[in-house]
Amino acid sequence: MSMVSHSRVVALVFMLEAWIICAVGADEANMLRSCWNAKYNPTPIMFEEWISGHPARLYMVDAWWSSRRNSIPLTIFTMMSLDRLSMLESQCRGYIGPISAAVYIPLVLERDPSLGSDFKATSDHDDGVERHGYGRDDENDDNYGDGDSDGGEGDNEVANVLVGRRRHIQGGYNESHTDPVALARAKLQNLFHLMEAEAARAAGNNSLPGCCCQLRLMLYAERMSDSPLATIMPTNSMRNAAMLGATTPLSAMFDADLAPCTNINDLVQNASWVQYISKETTRPSICIPPAWETRGHLQPNSKNVVVQRAITGIKADVLDMWARSELQVFQVNVCKHCHKTFDHSRWAKEDMPYTVQHTLGFEPWGILWRLRDPGYDERFRGWLYDKQTHVEALARKHRYTFTVLPDLWVVHRPHKKVGIVQLYRRSNTTGEGSREVEALLRPVVLSNGKNTTVYTAYRHYMDSMRRTLRSALASRQPYEPQQNAQFLHCKSVLPWWQQG
Ligand SMILES: *[C@@H]1O[C@H](CO)[C@@H](O)[C@H](O)[C@H]1NC(C)=O
Ligand SMILES: *[C@@H]1O[C@H](CO)[C@@H](O)[C@H](O)[C@H]1NC(C)=O
Ligand SMILES: *[C@@H]1O[C@H](CO)[C@@H](O)[C@H](O)[C@H]1NC(C)=O
Ligand SMILES: *[C@@H]1O[C@H](CO)[C@@H](O)[C@H](O)[C@H]1NC(C)=O
Ligand SMILES: *[C@@H]1O[C@H](CO)[C@@H](O)[C@H](O)[C@H]1NC(C)=O
Repeated sequence: MSMVSHSRVVALVFMLEAWIICAVGADEANMLRSCWNAKYNPTPIMFEEWISGHPARLYMVDAWWSSRRNSIPLTIFTMMSLDRLSMLESQCRGYIGPISAAVYIPLVLERDPSLGSDFKATSDHDDGVERHGYGRDDENDDNYGDGDSDGGEGDNEVANVLVGRRRHIQGGYNESHTDPVALARAKLQNLFHLMEAEAARAAGNNSLPGCCCQLRLMLYAERMSDSPLATIMPTNSMRNAAMLGATTPLSAMFDADLAPCTNINDLVQNASWVQYISKETTRPSICIPPAWETRGHLQPNSKNVVVQRAITGIKADVLDMWARSELQVFQVNVCKHCHKTFDHSRWAKEDMPYTVQHTLGFEPWGILWRLRDPGYDERFRGWLYDKQTHVEALARKHRYTFTVLPDLWVVHRPHKKVGIVQLYRRSNTTGEGSREVEALLRPVVLSNGKNTTVYTAYRHYMDSMRRTLRSALASRQPYEPQQNAQFLHCKSVLPWWQQG
């Protein structure tokens, strides 16, 4: 026992040192791009290839990496489509540590065959990836927020960003053939510079509250020769891709529509909390905060107010909002088993962490020891079983325990349901008017001659994948998640992914 815990402590100390050395500097974006694109497959993907097991073909168009130094031991990672950038902005304003975000754009070549024709696999050997002496000579002090800030410069930068935005929006709408890659890149670039500028401004002015996360932002594009896949985002490939930008001992995947309570900022700076979580996650355990959402009867404006209060309030406020039916357990109306395992009534009373048993379909978000996260199974695209299967693998293959955190919670921000979820929740709906739903209901003829719809073929593949995975895990058969060559290559060469 004592041997084990001693080696854990040694590992922990090693990790803390490694992260302080690694997580600074400006080369990370280049390293990521060059390892990722080295294994890029430029052949456009087709729907049928995916449902016969082919991984997503993502090209990393660009990457931005905050050069502000970090001393927070937890990286949040997340992925999203371009229309959710404002949610990422909210996440970034609410967290003081690093956030690694992967943004996805589909490029449908049916409409414009020239999209992404300049994407090429590149050799990553002369790009610094294998270079040694990577570590920098930074002091290991508590250096959050000491980015070289002076308020005035920050203000100018904000102004430039806004001008850039306006110019950009005008430029985008006076022509029908705006390059979607250039548009997406400009939007990401603006967001990145905005966050950096605001952080610098806040750091240079004691009367402003601290802001923002250290953003690591990656833009991924996927070329596809037909359109069905464009509505079926490669959610799990994107989660893996975002995970690559995590450098700290601890990491947590929080989807973009999820807001951790602001109390997280105190916790991640509290040495005894960090020590406790590090010990738990190396057991291994996933440390899980319960998720809340606003009640359906509220108007959109009041929903946002409730979300804001639930994020910024203390636990007693959240419980009070729950009692007054402003908040409810996440998805309690549509998927009782997804979050029931938390036992929210118990959470209300506990001020100590407690363990719960995994149950099938359990879908918590949570904090892991970064190097022990087995990653996501990329066969799951879209919004069915994608996260659940990761949790199931943690529980049943990797023997994780589940530790509920009494002092951390997450709140779901309301948004329009994506097409797949609309169809899944109301399977007798047809049409619906939404373009996404229409696209999913389009007929496809599969190569076996079967005439079906995109959604039916999707459901069929997802359901069968989940059945296979479940029975493998239940009978202790070998189960390996599908992970693409780019992700695996990056993990094998990026210095902050080496186990030491
Ligand atoms: C928008 O229109 C102006 C003048 O009509 C033109 O000069 C400019 O190139 C257009 N913008 C884009 C992005 O094409
Ligand atoms: C600091 O922020 C406060 C509050 O927004 C503002 O009134 C003040 O002018 C700022 N000071 C400097 C030096 O920018
Ligand atoms: C840090 O966390 C511990 C336990 O989690 C708590 O008892 C202590 O009050 C916290 N310290 C501060 C400064 O918040
Ligand atoms: C399904 O269809 C039935 C009959 O058309 C309708 O009454 C019911 O409300 C529909 N269910 C949902 C969830 O839309
Ligand atoms: C497939 O079904 C659609 C209607 O859902 C029909 O229009 C089409 O002709 C069918 N194609 C084949 C090859 O059977």
